[in-house]
Amino acid sequence: MAALAGLASWLPSPFGEVRQVQAGGKRLPGEPALRLVLERACANCHSNETTWPWYSHVAPASWLLEQDVSEGRKFLNFSRWPDYGPEGQSQLSAVASSQVQAGAMPPTRYLALHPEARLSQAEKDQLVAWFNRQSNQVPPARKRNSGKGIQRKENHMKRSVLFGLFIAAAAVIGLRFTQTSAQAAGGPVYTADGQLKPPTGYRKWVFIGAPLTPNGLNGGKAGFPEFHNVYVEDKNLTAYQKTGEFPEGTVIVKELLLLRKGNHPDGSADTASGRGFGEGEFNGMDVTVKESQRYANTNKWGFYNFGHHALPYEATAKLASKQECAACHIAGAAKTDMTWVDFYPVLRGKN
Ligand code: HEC
Ligand code: HEC
Repeated sequence: MAALAGLASWLPSPFGEVRQVQAGGKRLPGEPALRLVLERACANCHSNETTWPWYSHVAPASWLLEQDVSEGRKFLNFSRWPDYGPEGQSQLSAVASSQVQAGAMPPTRYLALHPEARLSQAEKDQLVAWFNRQSNQVPPARKRNSGKGIQRKENHMKRSVLFGLFIAAAAVIGLRFTQTSAQAAGGPVYTADGQLKPPTGYRKWVFIGAPLTPNGLNGGKAGFPEFHNVYVEDKNLTAYQKTGEFPEGTVIVKELLLLRKGNHPDGSADTASGRGFGEGEFNGMDVTVKESQRYANTNKWGFYNFGHHALPYEATAKLASKQECAACHIAGAAKTDMTWVDFYPVLRGKN
């Protein structure tokens, strides 16, 4: 493994000598508070002040980052801010303002490995206000479209290929992302347009219980057929047991399973251990996610349905409407952090 990583690092970077930075214009623009935000969220790719993380020494991750830095600096280098002049600053600021508002910068794939670059709403507002002030230095008539759209699209494609390579290499080499990586930590992972991706590895989280609503006891058609296997990560379970509240970023999975085929009309079967119910095929997945700000409208939790059917489930899920899911949880479980803790012996009575 070390040999592989070593070999990869030895390959020449396709992006040239990005790490050798020409001197000049070190200071970031703006007042001190703003500079701190730029430094944390933008400077690694858009200034000469790049801090190269550990994975930047392993190809092709290194190429990926070098490309980001080389492209990022080409488009916008805060260390050279004065050189752009009022017109350039104004143009760049207009683009930056909309990029930050849209959540396009810093890029999502970067945030997974650099949670320190994540911006709070207040910090976004602060940046946007500053960019808007810079942008308004010059009357709108003098601003021109920089026409870099096509080039950017190609860059995106190149980077996607490299990112794929990085993920493949990470799998081969057995690289583990730091604990802060959203995926590794089991936290929610979203697509660019805000849909939830299915949690991975949840069947090895803590299994906290299995409420059962058999079709046979629900007029042949249960809303959630039939066993509900519920999983939560160990650290979130532990936090709830201590505080009666789940931490931000908690994901709870309810995976549905049909009954094991029975010989009685209610779905039960005669077995060596007696007449009863057993679990059959996987039949769907519902997920709740705690993010107080993102889901302020539904009491801090978002609800997602990946289908109620056999495998494979949906590849992504849209946020469910309040009426479809949250309303019932609000009505019945608002006092226990939106979770029906009565059904789970390890959570019951811990709030
Ligand atoms: C991981 C590196 C990275 C980080 C961090 C990053 N960017 Fe970028 N940025 C890029 C790359 C690469 C491009 C050029 C290609 C593209 O648009 O994806 C770019 C393009 C831009 C552009 C477009 C410039 C133009 O002329 O079209 C703006 C504006 C921008 N970034 C602002 C920001 C701001 C503001 C931040 C911090 C809040 C930030 N970026 C953080 C890599 C980064
Ligand atoms: C009519 C009420 C109701 C509706 C609507 C509802 N739930 Fe639930 N949900 C429950 C109850 C009761 C439980 C616990 C017992 C069970 O699973 O049978 C539960 C359990 C859960 C759990 C396991 C964690 C917990 O809170 O106990 C998840 C995850 C979940 N629901 C997600 C959803 C999603 C996603 C939707 C919408 C697609 C949804 N629920 C709609 C009543 C509801």
